[in-house]
Amino acid sequence: MEVILRPDAEAAAKLAAKLVARQLRRKPDSVLGLATGRTMERLYAELVRMHREEGLDFSLCRTFNLDEYIGLPVTDPHSYRHYMNEQLFRRVNIDLRNTHLPDGMATDLGAECERYEELIRSTGGIDLQLLGIGESGHIGFNEPLSSLRSRTRDKSLMPETLAVNSALFGGDVEQVPHRAITMGVGTILDARFILLLATGPRKAVILAKALEGPVTSMVTASALQLHPACRVILDEAAASGLQEKSYYRWIFENEPEWAPYRG
Ligand code: F6R
Repeated sequence: MEVILRPDAEAAAKLAAKLVARQLRRKPDSVLGLATGRTMERLYAELVRMHREEGLDFSLCRTFNLDEYIGLPVTDPHSYRHYMNEQLFRRVNIDLRNTHLPDGMATDLGAECERYEELIRSTGGIDLQLLGIGESGHIGFNEPLSSLRSRTRDKSLMPETLAVNSALFGGDVEQVPHRAITMGVGTILDARFILLLATGPRKAVILAKALEGPVTSMVTASALQLHPACRVILDEAAASGLQEKSYYRWIFENEPEWAPYRG
């Protein structure tokens, strides 16, 4: 795992976007794993800018989102399909038929989860998986005690997660669906590269546990320590609880790979 610190949320999102763009330029038909949430909005805005101003091409790429609420039609403005369409898909030259989210309206949820896993597999697996982290330590919606080998399945969300996510439902926690289909931790760990972006002081406590604490299903993001190619990009506020910040800064200043991104 490599942890990279940037001064603020804008700089962190821009660096993450540059790494996504590099992946797309190296392999235009990349399979991207995507996340939703407020952290990703800056990153997607930057990708849209790169598409418009620098010709970043999405025409061949395929995408799989981590999760979708159960029981929200895709037309619902709170659905993750709606979020993705608005934040990214409609604003770049991606073929919507190449964009996939779990179907939270499926009548047979088990079959839908198997279909999603199979589709990821038959598309060749995920090249680059983007992640945020919840204050419960979740990646995707893998709440505490999710098996670190779990696959795509339906999960109940923690009350804490419902409370945090209610901000996007007008503050009314009753409106937040209590369940979602999510890729499992095992599904996420299958990605060839992983990029976690986290910003803001509210993530500081859980990031210290996830990155520098023991690997435990109580903090599913800690499983990323087992992945051979995982990068974590943080702003200083999110990193404030970490012990090895000076080492992480040293990596960014000294590793040759980061030279093009230092300016
Ligand atoms: C979203 C997802 C979640 C979010 C996490 C952080 O698809 O899978 O794990 O990444 O809840 O959300 P924000 O960025 O809103 O703090």
